[in-house]
Amino acid sequence: MQTATIPFTLSADLIEKGPLKKDYAFLNELFISEYEQDPQAVLRQFENIRQQGGVFTSPASISGFCYLQPYGYAGDFQLIDRLYTNYRGAGTAVQRWDDFAQSQPAAEAVRNRKAYFIDLLQSKQLSRVLNIASGPCRDIKEYYDAQPASDTLIDCVEQDGRAIQYAQHLINHDERVRFIQQNILTYRSTQQYQLVWSAGLFDYFTDAVFVRVLRKLLTWVEPGGELVIGNFVEGNPNKAFMEVGMNWFLHHRSPEHLIDLAREAGATDWAARVKKEPAGINLFLHLQKPA
Ligand SMILES: C[S@@+](CC[C@H](N)C(=O)[O-])C[C@H]1O[C@@H](n2cnc3c(N)ncnc32)[C@H](O)[C@@H]1O
Repeated sequence: MQTATIPFTLSADLIEKGPLKKDYAFLNELFISEYEQDPQAVLRQFENIRQQGGVFTSPASISGFCYLQPYGYAGDFQLIDRLYTNYRGAGTAVQRWDDFAQSQPAAEAVRNRKAYFIDLLQSKQLSRVLNIASGPCRDIKEYYDAQPASDTLIDCVEQDGRAIQYAQHLINHDERVRFIQQNILTYRSTQQYQLVWSAGLFDYFTDAVFVRVLRKLLTWVEPGGELVIGNFVEGNPNKAFMEVGMNWFLHHRSPEHLIDLAREAGATDWAARVKKEPAGINLFLHLQKPA
């Protein structure tokens, strides 16, 4: 019997009580090695664990909330803001599993991408920025908090009205931010921007959709301007826990693959490079438009 060999069944106590720091290395190794061997069996096994209730189906926990998808999709604005704010739910088991989730390099990478965007905004004197799939806008809030006199105007395209409402509240209805409630797949901008930024969106797209959307975005960048797209890296060490424990599936990509997709989208004469945040998990494709 395949599932009997999966040690998740042996750690019911760990699942119910939640891991301590000393368990993290073992747990990570377990998720990675078992998932690598037989992903479908591990996913099935974890469904059995969920059927017993507990942390992994509790909206109070990071993994349970992500699994339940209360807004209809994984990685919604509220989950992302839980990662940004180092949220821990109440109750010992939830708190321990949230400690584990927040300690993962992927969670660190999400927090780092907030800092990455803020650094980008601070390093340039930008008058107009387009932020696609803006989510909670914690990054924008922290940028304006740090630069209260900034005259950078930021347009945010976001399809989820609940995300916009949440963000509006967070940034205290700052008039430098304009929200456009649209699906980026169908939205057409009539303007160009010095910086077009999108994180936490393109790694949900297949290659075909990635190229289709990117082709359109290239036309929204001013001559000499920049387009930056975030994407989780191929080889992400948290892929197993994200997919099994959180039901969070992404299209992971290598730097070379991102450059290839950019060329396919028509950025043939743009300067292209791929950078990463300190955890090395969130890649950023930078495309500079010829002046
Ligand atoms: C993972 S969050 C990222 C939020 C933000 N960029 C960040 O990094 O903090 C993804 C956001 O993209 C939005 N989104 C997903 N698909 C979209 C689409 N096709 N058009 C516009 N927004 C979209 C979701 O509603 C959600 O708020």
